[in-house]
Amino acid sequence: ARPVIIDCDPGHDDAIALLLALGSDDLDVKGITTVAGNQTGDKTLNNALRVLSYLGIEKEVAQGATQPLMRDLITAAEVHGESGLEGPELPEPSFDKSEKTATELMVKIISESEEKVTLIPTGPLTNIGHLLLAHPEVKDRIEEIVLMGGACFGGNWTPAAEFNILVDPEAADIVYNSGIPVTMCGLDVTHRAQVMKDETERIRGIGNKASTLVAELLDYFAIFHMNPNFPFEGPPLHDVCAVAYVLNREIFTVRKHHVAIDTVGELTVGATVVDYYDMSGREKNVNVVMDLDRERFIALLCETLEKYS
Ligand code: BDR
Ligand code: CA
Repeated sequence: ARPVIIDCDPGHDDAIALLLALGSDDLDVKGITTVAGNQTGDKTLNNALRVLSYLGIEKEVAQGATQPLMRDLITAAEVHGESGLEGPELPEPSFDKSEKTATELMVKIISESEEKVTLIPTGPLTNIGHLLLAHPEVKDRIEEIVLMGGACFGGNWTPAAEFNILVDPEAADIVYNSGIPVTMCGLDVTHRAQVMKDETERIRGIGNKASTLVAELLDYFAIFHMNPNFPFEGPPLHDVCAVAYVLNREIFTVRKHHVAIDTVGELTVGATVVDYYDMSGREKNVNVVMDLDRERFIALLCETLEKYS
C-alpha cells in the first residue's frame, strides 16, 4: 500500500476524504496533520480526533498551523458550521493528539519510510509551506503532492480564488514552486464531483458506522450548496477527489500546465493562474485535474465504505 500523509482541516469533505483513505487497502495512512482553514486550528484538530474516535481507529494526529504564514485566518463557518463539522453527532475524542507538531510528524514519517511518501493536503497549504521552508532536505523523499485547491477557471471564495489557496497564497506559492510533482484537484473537477440525493441514500443504505457518518455529513453539506444561485444538484466532494485521484487516476482527466499563484493582485489574490494556452512558454509544473468519471468516483466511494464493518 502506498504510504500517505493526509493534511486536512475537517470540514465535511475533508472528513469524507479521510474515510475514503482509511478504508482503502491501497493506501497506508501513516499520519494525519491538521491545519486551520474551514475552522480554527483547535476545532479542525478536534474534528479529526472525533471522526477517528467515532470509527474506533487510533492514528497519530498532529496539530499544525493555527494561522496562515503571513495573513490573518479566514474560516468557512457558513459552509461547515460553528464546529467546522456540524450535522452528525460525534463523540468527544477518545485519544490525545500527538506530542509532535505537524512538521515534526511529517519529517519523521518521510525520513523513516522505505518508500517515498505521498502528501495529500485538503486544506490551506500552511503546514506544507512550513515543512518545505524548515526541512527542504525531505523534498527528495516526497513522491508527489496531490492537493485540493485552486481552479483553472473561476473561484468559490472570490471571483478569482478558491478557498484553500486564498487562505494562504504564500504557502501555495512555496508548494507550487517546490519542484516536487504537484497535482491539483481544483474546482474544475471538484464541482463535477457532486453527490446526488439518491446516491446519498445508497450510501446511507450500506448501513455501517462509516457510511452512516458520510450520509449525515452529506445531509449537512447539501444545505449550503442547495442555494438556488449555485449550479449544483448535490454537494461537491472537493477533498475526496484528491484521495480518489491517488487511488485511481484512470477516473480523472488531467492536463499539465504552468501554474503560478497570485499573492499580490487586487482582484485576483489567491488565484491559481493556469497557463492554459501556454502563453508564457514556462515549464509545465503542475498536473491540473479537469474532469472525472463521476459514476466511477461514486462507485469507488461506495465500495470502500462497504469494507468498514
Ligand atoms: C475547499 O474549501 C473547504 O471548504 C473544503 O473543505 C475544500 O477543501 C473547497 O474550496
Ligand atoms: Ca478542506
